[in-house]
Amino acid sequence: MSDSSKGSKKLWGGRFGDTTSHITEKISSSIHFDKVLYRQDIRGSMAHAKMLNAIGVLTDDDYKNITRGLEDVRHEIEEGTFEFSTSLEDIHMNIESRLTEMIGDAGKRLHTGRSRNDQIALDLRLFIIDACNDISLLLKRLILELVTLANREIDTVMPGYTHMQVAQPVRFGHHMLAHAWALVRDLRRLEFTLSSCDNLPLGSGALAGVNYPSDREMLRKELDFSKIIPNSMDGVSDRDFALDFLYFASMLGMHLSRFCEELVIWSSSEFSFIRLSDTVTTGSSIMPQKRNPDIAELIRGKTGRLYGDMISLFTVMKSLPLTYNRDFQEDKEPVFDAVETVMLSLEGMIEMISSMEVNSGRLKETVYSNFSTATDLADYLVQKGVPFRQSHEVIGNIVRYCENEKKDFFSLKLEEMKKFSDKFETDAVDVINPETSTERKASYGSTSKESVKNQIKMLQKILEG
Ligand code: ARG
Repeated sequence: MSDSSKGSKKLWGGRFGDTTSHITEKISSSIHFDKVLYRQDIRGSMAHAKMLNAIGVLTDDDYKNITRGLEDVRHEIEEGTFEFSTSLEDIHMNIESRLTEMIGDAGKRLHTGRSRNDQIALDLRLFIIDACNDISLLLKRLILELVTLANREIDTVMPGYTHMQVAQPVRFGHHMLAHAWALVRDLRRLEFTLSSCDNLPLGSGALAGVNYPSDREMLRKELDFSKIIPNSMDGVSDRDFALDFLYFASMLGMHLSRFCEELVIWSSSEFSFIRLSDTVTTGSSIMPQKRNPDIAELIRGKTGRLYGDMISLFTVMKSLPLTYNRDFQEDKEPVFDAVETVMLSLEGMIEMISSMEVNSGRLKETVYSNFSTATDLADYLVQKGVPFRQSHEVIGNIVRYCENEKKDFFSLKLEEMKKFSDKFETDAVDVINPETSTERKASYGSTSKESVKNQIKMLQKILEG
């Protein structure tokens, strides 16, 4: 990054006798991070120039030169030959200054009827809209991976947990789909973020509107917005859309961290429920036997960054008076960081889920050895006329007996069971089978095969829509 123009006259330098100090330039400059907005900035400027031409503020020649010049600037940035300058502060002034160097006075006319305040509000909205569209594709791919896995493992039964203690048998697919539904809610929050970005701020000027009959309807169409912000002060002050995005990202991060926590536990040698592929695990520099689930751990850890990004922007925004305040410049890094973190995390999740092996034998072993069907047995007695509270007590006693005798449900004889209740008969054996337990779940949304299949259909429809 060149610093050669330090101390040179600024684009806004008219009313200043002296140049800014080195430290002021250092604090003011955002070009080292906001240069990622170049595409959106150029798109906004193209639309603005077209509108200025349409309302007669820019001649056809100026308009043509500006369009061609902006395309050349984009080319230079993409080729890596553009020289970004710290003393030109930000992406807007870097582009405008280079444009003027290339095409002369027409470049200086581009900023007519516009302020950097409505320009940055536009750029950030466009950036988040573009990011949301990319993120939406990844989120849908991850949901699809879960649906595919649920379908493949539909007959695999595993222990479902509450308090991290074995609770009841569930289908592995049902567990995967529980995560998929959380991601569908994230998808909805992403759509909400898109709708809150979908308001055109350009034409608000610095805060009060502009002294030109700016055709905001034309800008709206040109830039693909559904609505126009009806209040110019709100147009330059509102950063809710960025916070909506960061809230979406935090919630998604929270969901991914819970999923990753399970992947870490399940891939431990003690659990061995799954095996993460070699492509997403790493070795230890000292312990040769290790296969560490670093990617799951890192995605879990990155949730901290996402919360931090959200909190930092909330904190920047707190108590700021209307309208634009320079503090707003601090809105960008949290957003950029969250976009990168979310994309990276989703890509990591897709790779982990698509390459993971499910150890159905080990899952079966666990579901058989932990009294996971105790509730089914209690319901069995209910069917025989025993009130639920009483049957709960009876089964509790049987479990205690088994623990003392070092037995599981399957090594119990009918005579032993009858000592606890004379209602037990030979059909009690079916009831303790964890594999048939899921099929006794008759309620909507349960872990039965039919219910899991129904969820798969629903999710496929959501993904198609
Ligand atoms: N770089 C600035 C930002 O990110 C652009 C707007 C500057 N406006 C101003 N009045 N200094 O917010």
